[in-house]
Amino acid sequence: MSTWEKSGWRNKPRVQMPDYTDIAALNAVEAQLAKYPPLVFAGEARRLRDKLGAVARGEAFLLQGGDCAESFAEFSADNLRDTFKVFLQMAMVLTFGAKVPVVKVGRVAGQMAKPRSAPTETISGTELPSYRGDIINGFDFTPEDRIPDPNRMLQAYTQAAASLNLLRAFSTGGFADMHRVHAWTLGFTDHDDAEKYRGMANGIQDTLDFMAAAGITGATTHEFETVDFYTSHEALLLEYEEALTRVDSTSGKTIAGSGHMIWIGDRTRQPDGAHVEYCRGVQNPIGLKCGPSMTTGHLKSLMSTLNPGNEAGRLTLIARFGAGNVAEHLPRLIRAVQEEGANVVWSCDPMHGNTIKAASGYKTRPFESVLREVQEFFGIHKSEGTVPGGVHFEMTGKDVTECTGGVRAVTDEDLSDRYHTACDPRLNASQALELAFLVAEELIGRRNERQAAAV
Ligand code: PEP
Ligand code: CO
Repeated sequence: MSTWEKSGWRNKPRVQMPDYTDIAALNAVEAQLAKYPPLVFAGEARRLRDKLGAVARGEAFLLQGGDCAESFAEFSADNLRDTFKVFLQMAMVLTFGAKVPVVKVGRVAGQMAKPRSAPTETISGTELPSYRGDIINGFDFTPEDRIPDPNRMLQAYTQAAASLNLLRAFSTGGFADMHRVHAWTLGFTDHDDAEKYRGMANGIQDTLDFMAAAGITGATTHEFETVDFYTSHEALLLEYEEALTRVDSTSGKTIAGSGHMIWIGDRTRQPDGAHVEYCRGVQNPIGLKCGPSMTTGHLKSLMSTLNPGNEAGRLTLIARFGAGNVAEHLPRLIRAVQEEGANVVWSCDPMHGNTIKAASGYKTRPFESVLREVQEFFGIHKSEGTVPGGVHFEMTGKDVTECTGGVRAVTDEDLSDRYHTACDPRLNASQALELAFLVAEELIGRRNERQAAAV
């Protein structure tokens, strides 16, 4: 493989990236970002890679989720807090319910650039460039807003830095303390799953009380008072990624300073394209979306380019085929991995293959399809004897009506009530929690079978 430079992607074919017209402004922004501190530190990305290595071996479970697209307008402490709360609840359901360590990775603090199915959008006869995420252009359907503006990268950096700062504070400053397990409940999650969650929270409280009474305190309890929370986003806007690329002073290796984990989208994974070229040279854990069009040949080539040392935890394959399509595609890709003897994490994104247009015109995802794809993913891994390592969701702590179904049954007609996403429809807090219980059940079933097989 040829030598790597952080700007090497510029010589490769690129797709889904904006054509900036104001080159002087672009250069100035890139120079500015190149001087700013990185958002994450290489040691953290290494620690995440080690944890994902445990996921690849079936010793831990990856929970990755957050907004489809973070927007400037929805950026607030309340939104971050509510999404973080649901995340903690989901992680708790998996840790306490399924007794599996959970690696927590948010789609947050940089998830602001979006690939689109069409370069332009037409409304009432007017055609304008598509919205590509707040880091690139504006959401409003006006010619001015849709012009890619490089200065948006500076605002995105500031938002990412402030988000990460608050999330770090939540993670270690007492908010995520397990003694507060009851306080993570959001007011509107008032239904059967909330009841199940409260039951579990009571169990946790009892365990903690017992430990305190038994005199288990000090160093051991630190584990209960803080969480390790990591950030991730799609590395789509390569000018931003390149400008935040840094050399790690301890190892001399290169790191994407924009987030702990970055992923390559299903539309930008051409083996000889710009996005793969950038990602192959940085040390961060890399995600690779695998949709129905992923061929076994491409997968093999991508695995050798992105993980030439075959390190466990370096590469996460995020399957997103759509409910009903998993049996057709996942087994052939699992076999390609096995033929190469490759170490990978297999994760399931049950969102992106299940987007439909409701009769009302809203883009939505039926919750039943989301659940079904997760079940199909677990079922195939069971029959192939491989490890279902994690899940990847688009969700929010807000009580939105974007995906239909769930125990509090959002209908097609409800979609217009609270449809706030800047891009794809997200699970609301109650749907996210319901999904966590389903995943926990799958994991419990898997553990029971393995235990039965071992005796
Ligand atoms: C996404 O994760 O928001 C996304 C665009 O996914 P995919 O590349 O799998 O379509
Ligand atoms: Co999306």
